[in-house]
Amino acid sequence: MEVKTSLLDNMIGVGDMVLLEPLTEDSFLENLKKRFDHNEIYTYIGSVVISLNPYRSLPIYTPDKVEEYRNRNFYELSPHIYALADEAYRSLRDQDKDQCILITGESGAGKTEASKLVMSYVAAVCGKGQEVNKVKEQLLQSNPVLEAFGNAKTVRNDNSSRFGKYMDIEFDFKGDPLGGVISNYLLEKSRVVKQPRGERNFHIFYQLLSGAPDDTLKKLKLERDFSKYNYLSLDSATVSGLDDAANFRTVRNAMQIVGFMEDEMQSVLELVAAVLKLGNIEFKPESRCNGMDESRIKDKNDLKEMCELLGTEQSVLERAFSYRTVEAKMEKVSTTLNVAQAYYARDALAKNLYSRLFSWLVTRINESIKAQAKTRHKVMGVLDIYGFEIFEDNSFEQFIINYCNEKLQQIFIELTLREEQEEYIREGIEWTNIEYFNNAVICDLIENNQNGILAMLDEECLRPGTVTDETFLDKLNTICADHQHFESRLSKNSKFLNDHSLPHNCFRIQHYAGKVLYRVEGFVDKNNDLLYRDLSQAMYKANHSLIKQLFPEGNPAKVNLKRPPTAGFQFKASVGTLMSNLQSKNPNYIRCIKPNDKKASHVFNGSLVCHQARYLGLMENVRVRRAGYAFRQAYEPCLERYKMLCKNTWPHWKGRARQGVEVLMTDLQVPAEEFSYCRSKIFIRNPRTLFFLEEKRKQCLEDLATLIQKIYKGWKCRSHFLLLKKSQVVVASWYRRYAQQKKYQKIKHATTMVQSYTRGWQARKLLRELKYQKKCEEAVTTIAAFWHGTQVRREYRKFFRANAGKKIYNFTIQRIMQKYFLGLKSKLPSMSPIDKTWPARPYSFLDGVHAELRRIFHLWRCKKYRSRFTEEKKAVYEEKLEASELFKDKKALYPSSVRQPFKGDYLEISKNPKYQKLSSAVDEKILLADVVNKINRANGKGSSRLFLLTKKNVVLADQKTGQLKANVPLTDLASVSTSTQTDGFFALKLKEGSASAVKGDFLLSSDHLIEIITKLHRIGSMAADREKLNIDISDEFLVQFKQDKVCVKFIQGSPKNGNSVSCKRKNNRLLEVSVPASS
Ligand SMILES: Nc1ncnc2c1ncn2[C@@H]1O[C@H](COP(=O)(O)OP(=O)(O)O)[C@@H](O)[C@H]1O
Ligand SMILES: [Mg+2]
Repeated sequence: MEVKTSLLDNMIGVGDMVLLEPLTEDSFLENLKKRFDHNEIYTYIGSVVISLNPYRSLPIYTPDKVEEYRNRNFYELSPHIYALADEAYRSLRDQDKDQCILITGESGAGKTEASKLVMSYVAAVCGKGQEVNKVKEQLLQSNPVLEAFGNAKTVRNDNSSRFGKYMDIEFDFKGDPLGGVISNYLLEKSRVVKQPRGERNFHIFYQLLSGAPDDTLKKLKLERDFSKYNYLSLDSATVSGLDDAANFRTVRNAMQIVGFMEDEMQSVLELVAAVLKLGNIEFKPESRCNGMDESRIKDKNDLKEMCELLGTEQSVLERAFSYRTVEAKMEKVSTTLNVAQAYYARDALAKNLYSRLFSWLVTRINESIKAQAKTRHKVMGVLDIYGFEIFEDNSFEQFIINYCNEKLQQIFIELTLREEQEEYIREGIEWTNIEYFNNAVICDLIENNQNGILAMLDEECLRPGTVTDETFLDKLNTICADHQHFESRLSKNSKFLNDHSLPHNCFRIQHYAGKVLYRVEGFVDKNNDLLYRDLSQAMYKANHSLIKQLFPEGNPAKVNLKRPPTAGFQFKASVGTLMSNLQSKNPNYIRCIKPNDKKASHVFNGSLVCHQARYLGLMENVRVRRAGYAFRQAYEPCLERYKMLCKNTWPHWKGRARQGVEVLMTDLQVPAEEFSYCRSKIFIRNPRTLFFLEEKRKQCLEDLATLIQKIYKGWKCRSHFLLLKKSQVVVASWYRRYAQQKKYQKIKHATTMVQSYTRGWQARKLLRELKYQKKCEEAVTTIAAFWHGTQVRREYRKFFRANAGKKIYNFTIQRIMQKYFLGLKSKLPSMSPIDKTWPARPYSFLDGVHAELRRIFHLWRCKKYRSRFTEEKKAVYEEKLEASELFKDKKALYPSSVRQPFKGDYLEISKNPKYQKLSSAVDEKILLADVVNKINRANGKGSSRLFLLTKKNVVLADQKTGQLKANVPLTDLASVSTSTQTDGFFALKLKEGSASAVKGDFLLSSDHLIEIITKLHRIGSMAADREKLNIDISDEFLVQFKQDKVCVKFIQGSPKNGNSVSCKRKNNRLLEVSVPASS
């Protein structure tokens, strides 16, 4: 649920002075002070906001605050300027009423700040969007530009507006800003040439000198040092809390955003620089022979630079400072200017240059921010005009400013006090009149067309003859003397004759806000606002687009001999327009009050505040407010606004509006004392009643919105439903058609199927019958044939013998066998025992016979083959056979020996004379003679030996000499050991204890190893008296060398050892033979 808040929640003092009890001046001030001390600077009097300047920044202007006050009722939250801004904006947006925000108060009371707060609030809450944001930004950024050129430090305010500003912000029907129009009122231009003590010239001069980059300054022919320029007061050149350099950048940036072109900005700065230069031009007197005083420019350098800046001809300007041309009746008269007049001319030019530049800036800004669309606009005007001023030395400007404030007070009185009271009377409400001071008399004293001060000043200015400020004062003295608010020493009113606080050249006006003493000096001149025509013409001639625009009257083609309207006249006229403009709008008041004179925070000067409260008529304001009704509204709009709250008035009330409102109020049961029905309006006493109505209305609007939403949603759903239904019918019809089509096709298909099955069945039935008929016919034939056969066999049986079948069978078998053998004979393979071919068998029942015949044939051809062998050849083959039995698949050397014929005697010893002795020593027949390697037991190296084998002995002899080395009887031989590999190593192992065994076993190597061992074995197996020789084939065997047993180990040699067998003695127990791997 939404939390309801009220102004009354956590209130410090009283938030709305209307609720103050008791109401006295003291309690009023007490309340303000209490709130001020608690940082509550805003207090209401009804819908008027009183604002006390805190002179320090308070955290009450954050975006959160903006959100808090947005779309809330005025009295719902604690008093704030945002509440007023929100009220004004909503009333503009929702009720289509043009608004104006009137901000009044003394100089330094916070008017300008307040106007900026209002603008920023409105900018924050109104519409958003790229275009809208641009407009907002431009509107907001016009402030820094105007402040730089139109504000200055005064003793009252460090950022005092020295011009009046009224800005109309235009909105479209949605409340989005479209643009704006700024009007400016009378810039205090005298400040350009002279500033009171403790004050400064306009900010822009200081900002330019401290903030512009060096090259800009160089272009403008300026120096940073303020002291170089006569027009800049030095005693307060820098203001604490004001960063001129940073502000300069802000201003340039703002100008860019507002839409100033680069060259425009440059022109503006050139003019500012020119004003500074102008101030430095000094004159010296020069007497002429004709006795006339003349002046000369002291140092022409500044003039030269200024002319360069403005593009004017130096001589033209120089002449304009020395002569004055007066045109009268087609005659031109030139008079020389004395030094004082020259200075006057110089300052007049400076003031005019600057003030026209300022007006141009406003026009230029207006061009940028003006609303584009031509539709009707709603307008919110914000008026921030210079405040009431009382200085030590008050001149024409203060007079004008204070006049303007009088007018504003007048409008306040008109609208809040008089208007309100008169309205009560008009409406016939019982009313006791409340006394208040009406300042209309003061306004009349100043602006009366016949004898007002401004009228007389104009009269003086236009009068022929010598006119001085004194003559003007004389005139005032005669005409206004009797006025109760006018005082002067020389007035006929003798009561002031002895008033020493009133000097002779002054007059005093008792303003609504206090007495102000004006010095008449300068009134006439300032009102005349004369610029010698020579000067304006010189300016017009300048080769500078902006200057030319600023001095249109200098155009010789448009010489106008009529005097321009005086400053006072212009101001009065523009104030008049402003007032009628404000009166046409719904006013919202912010009354700014200064809590102290020292610009100090936390200081509340009771008497100062009291003074302001008095002259602002705040007490009267409260009294009128309390006596009357908080709110009023004409019957028609009231009924229109609240008619939805009652069944009888909603939606239309047929009768008169007043009756409608009465019905409405009765229905709502609002207590009768809370309102009264008057002639044309209903008056509501308490804001709370209004809130009650507003709240009800808001709820009701929500309900109505819900109702509209409901009906709309219903309509939307219904139309959607109808559409769906329509579509559903279409879809359904299409679907049905489709489904029927499918069904029909299915039935058709089924029918065809049934049909075809039936036809098939009928056809098969017919076929079966036909087949049966046919079979019957065939059966008949068969039966007939069998029958005939039986008949025949029965007839012929007596002609066949009983065992004819067996005979025929045997005969057939014989024929087949005969044919098989004959065929085999013709296809027999060759007689070679190794031929493996054999013809295929013709009949499977001959399988066994066929294989057997093959075996027999093979045996037979082997026998045939063998029978062709001689005895020697037979012995050789037997030997080979034995070798095969011994070594096949046991030693890798064997396959290579198969092809070698076993020659036996490789040396033919008996024929070799060298071995004569040896052959004689061996008496037996030599079965084998060969050269072997005897392996040295010590190192494994071999030495050649003759190896002879007889039936009984093995003989080893020296190869060269044939000398017998060893003769071992075969009976002493125990076994032969050899490896499984391709080497030719073999060891002859001797029987232990035999005679030959003394020297140890023999380790030999031979290329004919297989033959040697086969022969040794053969001899053993043939001799009946000896046991067979053991042959041991393994890669590791022991050999007895004298006493030691040495292990001979065969290893696979790596290929790097080459293809030869090598034997190495590894240690005294191991002899390693490395054998190349057989490929
Ligand atoms: N609401 C505020 N919060 C903080 N400081 C403020 C406020 N209003 C005014 N001031 C201070 O007072 C100074 C004068 O205010 P300003 O609006 O320029 O006065 P005025 O326009 O009435 O002459 C400002 O420069 C600012 O320092
Ligand atoms: Mg101001």
